[in-house]
Amino acid sequence: MNGLHPDLARILVPEETIQAHVKVLAHQISLDYADKGTIYLVGVLRGAFIFLADLVRYLTIPHVVDFMSVSSYGKSTESGVVRIVLDLREPIEGQHVIIVEDIVDSGKTLSYLYTMLKSRNPASLRTCTLVQKPKRPLDVPVDYLGFKIPDVWVVGYGLDYADKHRTLPYIAELKPSVYTR
Ligand code: PRP
Repeated sequence: MNGLHPDLARILVPEETIQAHVKVLAHQISLDYADKGTIYLVGVLRGAFIFLADLVRYLTIPHVVDFMSVSSYGKSTESGVVRIVLDLREPIEGQHVIIVEDIVDSGKTLSYLYTMLKSRNPASLRTCTLVQKPKRPLDVPVDYLGFKIPDVWVVGYGLDYADKHRTLPYIAELKPSVYTR
């Protein structure tokens, strides 16, 4: 395609498709929580900030936005130990909480956050991710999902490679030659 960055192999999810699915997710969340008062959305930095920014602008119910940032030691290892770099500003006890992720890959980040936030006694806890890779079954539910994608390195719409390509409006597959060189 004309204008595609040389790091990119192809566009996997075009901008219009992303926006259509984000609208659907926001509509579903707005329906599901219509009688629940203000919901508490937890964006997982950095990747989720673009998805979350679009999602909340399509919501028709009251909501609060907050962020967490976590860091994992040795992502490729089985332990995948995660530590909190930035925590929520407020207690979530008694709140209806949704964790908003850009991508679920191994699922370790979501699993860690889910267990940790559950221990803070929210009224309810659900998860929302824009994309999910076809890895082994997760030990946490993915309640709201935009797309399943193949197990390739993807960038754009918040997803990065070495902090590049995050602001592309679409999701694209990175050429393997970029991350193997
Ligand atoms: C990415 C993404 C998710 C996590 C998913 O974050 O934003 O939070 O990886 O991977 P997992 O399912 O294997 O745990 P990353 O650590 O790359 O940081 P970033 O969002 O700041 O780019």
